[in-house]
Amino acid sequence: MKIMVLLLFLPLFFAIPIESSLMSSSSQPHFVRSTRNISGNKMSAAAPQQYFEVTHPLPSDDITPACSVSVLNHSFGYTYGSPPVSVDYTPPPATCEWSLAVLEFRAECKGEQYDRIAGVWIDGVELLRTSTAQPTEDGIFWSVRKDVTRYSSIITKPNLTLAMMLENIVNDEFTGVYHVNISILFYSDKVARVPLSIIPGESGARTLNRKLISVKTHGNVDQLDINRVLNPLYPYDKPADLVIPISGALDEGVWFRFQDEFHVQTTNVQISQETYKAVLELYVSFHGDDEFWYMNPPDSYVETNHLTTGRAHGAYREVLVTIDGQLAGAVIPFPVIFTGGINPLFWEPVVSIGAFDLPSYDIDLTPFLGLLLDNKKHSIGLQVADGISFWLIDANLHLWLDHSNVNAEMLKYKFPSMEIQRVSEFVSLDGKFEIDGERSSKASALVHSSYGILKTKVTEKAKFKSKLKLEGTMKELKQRIKKTTKIKITDEIGQVIVNLEVKINYPLKISIDTQPGLDKGTSLMTTKVEQKRSDRFFYGVNNSRVLSHKQNCTGLMVVKGNSVLSGSSDNRQIYNYQDEFGCYSRNVTVVDGDVVADRTLTTCVV
Ligand SMILES: *[C@@H]1O[C@H](CO)[C@@H](O)[C@H](O)[C@H]1NC(C)=O
Ligand SMILES: *[C@@H]1O[C@H](CO)[C@@H](O)[C@H](O)[C@H]1NC(C)=O
Ligand SMILES: *[C@@H]1O[C@H](CO)[C@@H](O)[C@H](O)[C@H]1NC(C)=O
Ligand SMILES: *[C@@H]1O[C@H](CO)[C@@H](O)[C@H](O)[C@H]1NC(C)=O
Ligand SMILES: *[C@@H]1O[C@H](CO)[C@@H](O)[C@H](O)[C@H]1NC(C)=O
Ligand SMILES: *[C@@H]1O[C@H](CO)[C@@H](O)[C@H](O)[C@H]1NC(C)=O
Repeated sequence: MKIMVLLLFLPLFFAIPIESSLMSSSSQPHFVRSTRNISGNKMSAAAPQQYFEVTHPLPSDDITPACSVSVLNHSFGYTYGSPPVSVDYTPPPATCEWSLAVLEFRAECKGEQYDRIAGVWIDGVELLRTSTAQPTEDGIFWSVRKDVTRYSSIITKPNLTLAMMLENIVNDEFTGVYHVNISILFYSDKVARVPLSIIPGESGARTLNRKLISVKTHGNVDQLDINRVLNPLYPYDKPADLVIPISGALDEGVWFRFQDEFHVQTTNVQISQETYKAVLELYVSFHGDDEFWYMNPPDSYVETNHLTTGRAHGAYREVLVTIDGQLAGAVIPFPVIFTGGINPLFWEPVVSIGAFDLPSYDIDLTPFLGLLLDNKKHSIGLQVADGISFWLIDANLHLWLDHSNVNAEMLKYKFPSMEIQRVSEFVSLDGKFEIDGERSSKASALVHSSYGILKTKVTEKAKFKSKLKLEGTMKELKQRIKKTTKIKITDEIGQVIVNLEVKINYPLKISIDTQPGLDKGTSLMTTKVEQKRSDRFFYGVNNSRVLSHKQNCTGLMVVKGNSVLSGSSDNRQIYNYQDEFGCYSRNVTVVDGDVVADRTLTTCVV
């Protein structure tokens, strides 16, 4: 037996050769739940079921908008290889007074279909990245509501084009057509309520006179500063004056498609001399051989074992942003699991964290204004470190403008590549693969504008850890992404204008055991997913906004090819959100596709 040990940088442990008895596949397929078999177990001709992502309500929920714009009603049948559907976008009438804009995305589908990725853009600026749920024969429907106030400068402009991309295949086998309606709802701040005080759907939730149920404040909503409630944190405390798309041509799907790590997509931009603040917002999703990038073994494992899978190149990925070729920002994306991922039975009717509203990632480029404010074009580059086919990425460059020219000078800049240590060891199909990555970066600048001379300092510490174990029939992943970002803005006399600290922590554990099934050609897979999204924002002296969203899923499934024939599953999600005004928590338990418990509380869980 040939022993293959690959040690790069630090040797963290040594190989203990284990003889593998059963073939363990190194590829993690993307499944489709077979509606014919699975819904056959349930009563037929039931009403369409509502699917949902657990999230906290918006301040505008249940309130009548001041005005609304229906922007798209479209059915996505066979759209594979086609450009996005595009329509003229009509902004709200000038007479409509609003301060909060919400994009409402409604979808329904019936039949058999894979989950699909979708994006919505106005004039190339991405407003929503979403994925679809896998339908059933009885049909499913869902809706996504997203605060899009930060795109105010775009959604108020006339003569723009709204585009939506959703590539779908409809044939004899896959019959699901996705019907989508999109509207933008505009709310006046005079009627919006405090976000956390009301359970969605509860009646009488319309006035600001309602008391917060929160144990934290006990206060009356009237006493609260409503503007602060409605306004998001820095950098979107005030929507940008201009949003420049860093995206592709409409007929190529708007987003950029990255096939490998060498592909650098550059966009030349010349920004206004009046810019005093700049933030790049990235939208990211991963597909194909990189859909489960966090479970990909190294190339050497795949090559040595003569596997045919393309799912390789190790389990570290990072989206890199460069300005004129210099690294200016980097993001390890939250591992969103789509509804065909790991075990599709987990994701009905509750979907995975972020599946209906994929997170976007902000990179503060204010420290780079010294470079950008020279009346010349600069190239903004996007790239996926270690990426393989394929990633869909684009970005929105948010710019805040002064009424006269701004001067800026960079003070400090240090943005090294992630320092990575990898340990790979395997004996035929059994192996352990560890990756540890770390980086500290800082950048600061002085910006002279009508707001005075402000110093912006951005520091960031990122850590990445991954352990992938393949042993016999088992595949096990433990991954953790951690990052702390500090943004501090001070004036000439050292007074603090903005002091924000953002801490993210994304642990993920997956285990998959594949055994031969009872029937020929089938396999029995035991699957587990434990995942958390923890986003904590600390600002000002005593203020914080804290999100902790956990999911814990266990299940079995009988699989033939990429089809799930039968199985059982449970998905427990615990969602806690807390800010200085109150708390919102929700505890959802789903067993075999039925919501057996769903409890919402507005008391704080410490
Ligand atoms: C979508 O359908 C609704 C209801 O028929 C209609 O009021 C609305 O104008 C339509 N929107 C578009 C963009 O076609
Ligand atoms: C879209 O709007 C049309 C027209 O109002 C309606 O018949 C359909 O049910 C809506 N679809 C969704 C997914 O909301
Ligand atoms: C929008 O387009 C129409 C028709 O092409 C044109 O008459 C109008 O001036 C344009 N409006 C703006 C603000 O560009
Ligand atoms: C912060 O909290 C402490 C203790 O509750 C309080 O005494 C202090 O006034 C608060 N500071 C601010 C700026 O709100
Ligand atoms: C996840 O669920 C399983 C089975 O329900 C349980 O044994 C395990 O302790 C749970 N894990 C966490 C972190 O709650
Ligand atoms: C969530 O709900 C389940 C089922 O009702 C219960 O067993 C569990 O203790 C709850 N967890 C929390 C943190 O409230």
